Amino acid sequence: MINVLFVCLGNICRSPMAEGILKELVQKQGLSELIHVDSAGTSGFHAGEQPDNRMKDIAAQHGILLSHQAKKLVYEDFDRFDYILSMDSANLDIILAMQKRSEFTRSKILMMRSFDPEVEDDMDVPDPYYGGMNGFENVYQMLYRSNEKLLEFLRQRHRKQDKTS
Ligand code: 4NP
Repeated sequence: MINVLFVCLGNICRSPMAEGILKELVQKQGLSELIHVDSAGTSGFHAGEQPDNRMKDIAAQHGILLSHQAKKLVYEDFDRFDYILSMDSANLDIILAMQKRSEFTRSKILMMRSFDPEVEDDMDVPDPYYGGMNGFENVYQMLYRSNEKLLEFLRQRHRKQDKTS
């Protein structure tokens, strides 16, 4: 089993969208038994809440139902997850600082848009919370592109593991 965790600030916009897309791709490719996907926030401001309605609406337009319940990143996540993907550099700094303070070294921590074939200078998935609907659609597009490549990377890695085990 490969465990993947997406992390943003509030866990109500970007990371639940990333979780919903990867789950959809994983299911379509028949990999649900092999790849487990979840999301969390570096803040607990919205803990217990469903995803933001604007993100839910954009997801629904693309055939994806978002039903995650927001939760804060905890130290144990650095043991549970093989991959932790940060939505932006501000949250990456928080995640790395938290991992240093934890006793766990298992998780590989990466920027989500390091997988985006259309990334330019800015590696952040921009926070859409205070903007308009086009910001949410833009987040969806970035996360879709990045997730396709992330899944290719995970499949490759799993194949290699199979050969050596
Ligand atoms: P997210 O978006 O980090 O993509 O879930 C945000 C949600 C809430 C807030 C900021 C960003 N907030 O400040 O409450």
